[in-house]
Amino acid sequence: MDTSVNNISNILAKADLTKQDIVSLLKSNVEDRNELYRKSALIKEEFVGKYTYYRGLIEFSNICAKNCYYCGIRLDNKNTSRYELDEKTILSAVQFAYENNYGSVVLQGGEREDKVFVEKIDSLLKKIKKLSNGELGVTLSLGEQTKDVYNRWRESGAHRYLLRIESSNIDLYYKLHPNNKKHNFERRLEALQTLQTLEYQTGTGVMIGLPFQTYEDLANDLLFFRDFDIDMVGMGPYIEHAETPLFQHKEKLLPLTERFNLSLKMIAILRLLMKDINIAAATALQAIDPIGREKALKVGANIIMPNITPTINRKNYLLYENKPCIDEGADDCTNCLEARINIAGDTIGYGKKGDSKHYYKRISKKK
Ligand code: 5AD
Ligand code: SF4
Ligand code: FES
Repeated sequence: MDTSVNNISNILAKADLTKQDIVSLLKSNVEDRNELYRKSALIKEEFVGKYTYYRGLIEFSNICAKNCYYCGIRLDNKNTSRYELDEKTILSAVQFAYENNYGSVVLQGGEREDKVFVEKIDSLLKKIKKLSNGELGVTLSLGEQTKDVYNRWRESGAHRYLLRIESSNIDLYYKLHPNNKKHNFERRLEALQTLQTLEYQTGTGVMIGLPFQTYEDLANDLLFFRDFDIDMVGMGPYIEHAETPLFQHKEKLLPLTERFNLSLKMIAILRLLMKDINIAAATALQAIDPIGREKALKVGANIIMPNITPTINRKNYLLYENKPCIDEGADDCTNCLEARINIAGDTIGYGKKGDSKHYYKRISKKK
């Protein structure tokens, strides 16, 4: 008798997964992992439906004040040519998303806290609201800010925020970031809490397959999302970038395909743990496998962020190597993705915001 299948079936039948269960699932062999994927696909279908929602991603600036050790656009990388899109260019990308029924956009950029930046975002948010009659969902991914700034942006029209914790293990966090005022684990946790208090749909995430990261770390990351009552998660494989300090540890890394497989397992397990949240199929998956994002949709993810950044700027927003779609335009990605998602068996939620169901439950519990 094959005891491993038995064991996996027992784990998958449980109402609550322990850390040890999660570690076993993360280490599962091909057969067991396929059983996990069958279960997570069913849960996705039952709780959020076989839908994929779009978030048109606008990488509007690669100017960043921070120095994360893993990231290609960190302040100290002098080999990146820096850009910042003007308002008109950003709004025309937003218009594209609106006309193509994307439902939502994400404004992502390097982290800055200066006044000019804060004002620029504020003004953009108001214009996006006007341009789309308040119909487009707007997610911000602009790092740590003060409560006042988060509040201001919320009032001007942002209703979702992504701030990855990168790793929930504080020791590992400081292997990935300098330990100083600008990079502080507690501040990041506080920022996430503030976003929740301000009633943002709050998203976080981690990188998978980092040097020094253990299976226990990854299991704890998933439990962290659950205990923090997070509404959305975006997580994907760590991909080394030659012009970053973390590159020196590349010998310690798992092969790319294993980082990819671990990422899919993380998504599937998260769908078991948090049935009604939004889970993104991270772009980094596609840097490893040409149909990586579609594979993620099949095992539990329900969000895709098509890149709608103007093509000339895409080559400069390289957080990691091998980033896909850098020569394509927004139209190319739209057509390409539609075919891929249909093959994955999902319907695209055109024209829908695709809000996190979990968020509404969380908010109603509070009231
Ligand atoms: N590999 C994978 N993901 C990365 N990010 C930054 N650098 C890398 C990398 N080298 C992710 C971080 C960040 C998000 C915007 O991009 O998790 O939060
Ligand atoms: Fe800046 Fe974000 Fe890259 Fe860190 S991960 S260096 S905050 S863009
Ligand atoms: Fe960008 Fe296919 S999604 S080219």
